[in-house]
Amino acid sequence: MKTIRHYCSRSLTSVLTILFAAGMILGGCGSSSMLPQKDIKIAVLTYDEHDTFIDSMTKYMTKWCRQKEKETGKRITLSVVGAKKSQLTQNDQVQKFISESYDVLCVNLVDRTDAMVIIDKAMESDTPVIFFNREPVEEDLARWDKIFYVGGLARQSAELQAKIIIDALSDPKKFASIDANGNGTIQYVILEGEAGHQDTLVRTSVCPKELMNAGFSLEKLGDEYANWDRDQGRTRMRELIDRYPFQIEMVIANNDDMALGAIDAIEERNYPLDPFVVGINGTEEALEAIRTMKLDGTVYNDYAGQAEMIMEMAYSLGVDEDFPPDVDLTFDKYVFRPYSIITYDNVQKYLRQ
Ligand code: GAL
Repeated sequence: MKTIRHYCSRSLTSVLTILFAAGMILGGCGSSSMLPQKDIKIAVLTYDEHDTFIDSMTKYMTKWCRQKEKETGKRITLSVVGAKKSQLTQNDQVQKFISESYDVLCVNLVDRTDAMVIIDKAMESDTPVIFFNREPVEEDLARWDKIFYVGGLARQSAELQAKIIIDALSDPKKFASIDANGNGTIQYVILEGEAGHQDTLVRTSVCPKELMNAGFSLEKLGDEYANWDRDQGRTRMRELIDRYPFQIEMVIANNDDMALGAIDAIEERNYPLDPFVVGINGTEEALEAIRTMKLDGTVYNDYAGQAEMIMEMAYSLGVDEDFPPDVDLTFDKYVFRPYSIITYDNVQKYLRQ
C-alpha cells in the first residue's frame, strides 16, 4: 500500500511538473494571461486605391497599429487592399481574407447598396465587419449584431459647408465681391462626387437648401459628376467655364479634390471672375490652398478620428474584449465623427507639420 501511495504521489508530482513546464514553455510564466498570444489579423478593404481621403485614413490605421503593438506587445497584421472600384473584386478579397482566418474585416464598400455577399460570407465564417465611409443601407446593417458602421454625418458636412458660404454672403463687402454682376443673385455650379454615394446625395441637396433657407437668392447654372477626383473636377469645370464664360460666381464642390480641380481650371482658363470655391475634407492640399487664399473654405472630415475608431473597434473584436468607452455607438451599430469648419481664420490649427 505504502509503495503504491508513494508511486501515486510521485507520479502526480511528475504530472504537475510536466504541466508546469509546458505552461512555462507556452506562456513563459504560470498565469493564465501568459497563455500563448495569437496575432490579431485585421483586413482593410477600400473601394479604390486612388482616393486621397481614404488613403489618409489607411495611412493613419497603419500608424495606429504600430503604436498599439508597442503598447501591448501583441502583433497586429494589418492588410490593406484596394478593389479598383469593382464590387466583384472586393467580394473575392473578402473571401480570401476569411480563408486566411482574419479576425476582423474593415470594409469600404465599392457599391454601398450591394453589401449582401460580404455580409453572407462574414456571417457564415463568424467574422465581424466594420463598414466605413460608404454607408450600407439600413436593412443590411440590421442583419447581424457583429456588423458596424463608422463614418461622418453627411448632413452635418453639408450644413457646415453652407455655413461657410452664409458667413461670407452675410458680410456686405464680401457679398458684393462674390456677386460679380451685382444682380443680387449668386450664380453657382456644383461638382458632385459619385452618383448614389450618401455624401453626394446629401451634400448636393442640403447645402443649396440651407442657403435658400437663410434668405439668399441663388441660381444654379449647372452640376456635373466628377467622382471625387481632381482631374475630373478640372475637366468638368473647364466645360462649365466654356458654357458660362462670364457667369460662375460660386463653386460648391462635394469634396476638396474636385474644388481644387475647379481652381486648376479657373487658373488655366484665366477666368475673368473670381468665384467663391468651397470643398469638404480638409486634405493637406486643401489646407495649403486655404492658407494661400485660393480655396475659400472646407469642412474637416475627421479622417484620423474615424480611422482611430475603426482600429479601436477592430482590435477589441480581435482580442474579444468590449469596445473602449470612447467608441460611442448609436443603436449599437453606428459611430459618427463630427465635422468642423476650416477657413483662412482657423486654418493654422489644422495645418499638419
Ligand atoms: C467622402 C469624401 C470623398 C471621398 C468619398 C469616398 O466622405 O468626402 O472625398 O473620399 O468619401 O467614399
